[in-house]
Amino acid sequence: MIILGINAYHANASAAIVVDGQLWAAVEEERFNRVKYAAGLPVRAIEYCLQVAGVNLSEVDHIAVPRDPMARWGTKLRYALRMPRFAMERARVMSRFAGIREELANTFDMSSDHLRAHFHRVEHHTAHLASAYFVSPFEKAAVLSADGLGDFASAMWAAGAGPKMSILGETTFPHSLGMYYTALTQYLGFWKFGDEYKVMGLAAYGQPEFLDEFRRMVRVDGPLSFRLGLKYFTHHTQGADMTWRESDRTPVQARLFSNYLEERLGPARAPDQTVEKRHHNLAASMQAALEEALASHWVALAQKTGEKSLCLAGGVAFNCLANGKIFERTPFERVFVQPAAGDAGLAVGAAFAVEHQILGRPRKFVMDHAAWGPEFSGKQMRTAIENGHASNGDERIEELGEDALVQSAARHIAEGKIVGWFQGRVEWGPRALGQRSILADPRRAEMKDILNRRIKHREIFRPFAPSILEEAASEYFEYSHPSPFMTFAYPVRPAKRELIPAPTHVDGTARLQTVSRAANPLYWKLLRAFGDRTGVPVVLNTSFNDNEPIVCRPEEALDCFRRTQMDVLVMGNFILEKKSAAARDEENAASLAKRAN
Ligand SMILES: [Fe+2]
Repeated sequence: MIILGINAYHANASAAIVVDGQLWAAVEEERFNRVKYAAGLPVRAIEYCLQVAGVNLSEVDHIAVPRDPMARWGTKLRYALRMPRFAMERARVMSRFAGIREELANTFDMSSDHLRAHFHRVEHHTAHLASAYFVSPFEKAAVLSADGLGDFASAMWAAGAGPKMSILGETTFPHSLGMYYTALTQYLGFWKFGDEYKVMGLAAYGQPEFLDEFRRMVRVDGPLSFRLGLKYFTHHTQGADMTWRESDRTPVQARLFSNYLEERLGPARAPDQTVEKRHHNLAASMQAALEEALASHWVALAQKTGEKSLCLAGGVAFNCLANGKIFERTPFERVFVQPAAGDAGLAVGAAFAVEHQILGRPRKFVMDHAAWGPEFSGKQMRTAIENGHASNGDERIEELGEDALVQSAARHIAEGKIVGWFQGRVEWGPRALGQRSILADPRRAEMKDILNRRIKHREIFRPFAPSILEEAASEYFEYSHPSPFMTFAYPVRPAKRELIPAPTHVDGTARLQTVSRAANPLYWKLLRAFGDRTGVPVVLNTSFNDNEPIVCRPEEALDCFRRTQMDVLVMGNFILEKKSAAARDEENAASLAKRAN
């Protein structure tokens, strides 16, 4: 039984393939076409999934797409009459979904008559819920999806038991926690798609001084119910159009906050304006109001279902600061957040919704790692290295066995070098989790600035994240619940903060990745080797990229390595070291010695 899930015609286009109940592959189109948040039909992601399964498109049994034009058609119709332009845009997307069978057949050069697959339209939030619950380790769980907008809803919750989920309720347009967060992200001067992370980082610097005003924007008005103060927003009157910028084909969201919001809180910050204390406090207030609304949802859902396990999906599930507070604010004891909790994850969710909700087949898969994308052989890596070898002779290249490789990588990191780490299959979801990562020494407070200056060029207020041996998590953090996909921020124990200053955020939390031996054996070995060498089984882990999608192929890793001031690249069994990096060793050693004194 082969099921292909496709998230298409929207940002974060992706594909996933499920064979006899097991996920075999899942990947975002952006990893192939190198356009961040790529939309359209994810042709190359589909090709890759078919290749992994060893089948042609004509051999796929079911094709699932996470959109249902008929869902909430009454609400859609009502808004269509009020906002014709918004309705037209929605209708255009829906018509593309209606023609997906033909478009797929044309793209794969076959007649649609040769496609034997049954096509399924899975409602957007049902697919989100399925993307979390059906791949979670839980037999039973409460499940919550929250995002900006999908099929005219912004949230949905369910109770999962075995291979079935019972939908318990939903929040429909225009009330939306995702829209709220995006609107305020824009107001704070961050307009790029996906900038919500920046504001979450900024929130740690401020105090929730404006919380009362924000409670008027997001009003919790009962168990599992909230309302937006619509005067503060525009999406219910102007729509929430997404356009695509010509220059880099990235999505641009229309302005979502109203003039009234500026009257109440002062003028919006211009993107080039300095970030001031007031902005810190606004971000903190916005985050606090979101956390209040989410906590009230979580608690009510725990009461309603009586469950101790919770699964989260939808873009709001990426709010790791809020997620980190679930254990103190709710009765939930276990939480699972899928690595691609946003819309990319819909491909997995739609496929598993067909597998279980529609076909009623039993569950037999748990997503315990994120390595579901392309991988490359040693031969392919060698060819890439030889073809693109630095002409100035500035690289020392070695090929090592696994133990020596891990020891060498750990030594480089401990010496303060910035190390590209390219191993195995590309991660599913936006986080680098030890397959396509840039690694550095978390003990050096200055490492954050060094990484930003040399490679990442990110805003100074954005934190970097740590990976930690799963076994050591409770020693360093106040919670030990697994966070394999970097979707929780936990407080670092006060006594440990000075041991790992680089990834500890200003509020004392860190967005950790717990690494288990079973799920990611090579990365686990590296962390253990670093721990043996330094006494600290933690490395700073950021994504392997520089203002681009995370690297996928060896050529992209080599290009990023050579274009930036990365010192070392560990790719498969190869270690490439820039000779110029050795010159920095002295400087690094001096800085660590200075800190120790
Ligand atoms: Fe969504």
